[in-house]
Amino acid sequence: MTDRERWETRHGDAHGTPLGAPSAWVMSRALSLSARDLIVDVAAGRGRHAVPLARAGRRVVAVDIVASALAEARAVSQLDVVVADAATPPFRDGTIDAIVCVNFLDRDTFMRLSSLLRGGGTMIIETFTVAQRTLGRGPTSDAHLLRRDELPSLLAPLAMLEYREGLVRDDAGERYVARAMAMKEVKAKPRAQ
Ligand SMILES: C[S@@+](CC[C@H](N)C(=O)[O-])C[C@H]1O[C@@H](n2cnc3c(N)ncnc32)[C@H](O)[C@@H]1O
Repeated sequence: MTDRERWETRHGDAHGTPLGAPSAWVMSRALSLSARDLIVDVAAGRGRHAVPLARAGRRVVAVDIVASALAEARAVSQLDVVVADAATPPFRDGTIDAIVCVNFLDRDTFMRLSSLLRGGGTMIIETFTVAQRTLGRGPTSDAHLLRRDELPSLLAPLAMLEYREGLVRDDAGERYVARAMAMKEVKAKPRAQ
């Protein structure tokens, strides 16, 4: 079974059930951006963040590898959806205002996502760390858990605006995560001679 097939099954099982609360931190940081910004939610699933952001009047594109999950998000809110692998997102480099990525880890993909941001664009990421294993729920494999202090190095080309790692609690539950808000530097234009 491929990763996508596994996710299709999981989303199929969850079909029609309540979305679950979004991360309060991710929402507050995404809502702090300019309302003009186009936010791309990568690995958006059924829209736990994309749907409330769209409902708050933000321009959102939800990207996921599972079409049925995106169809559910689209059915309940005004957002655009794109069925795509996060490793090969169908956007041009330097064109995206903001990327939100929650509970998805593909180490090779983060560099690719950074290159999609325009100068001054923002990345907002939250995902589980290895400490989550101590709670006995959630992902368990090394592939899906950040090592201690790992996230900043994965976002290295970006300037870190905010970083925290540890146990957090909100309506989405208690969990061990690393969370980062980082910005792509604006390239200075060469001065006219
Ligand atoms: C744990 S869920 C997180 C969903 C959402 N971000 C949230 O916070 O509720 C991980 C999501 O990643 C998606 N996914 C897995 N592999 C992917 C890939 N290669 N490209 C895009 N999405 C992928 C799955 O379909 C699933 O919706």
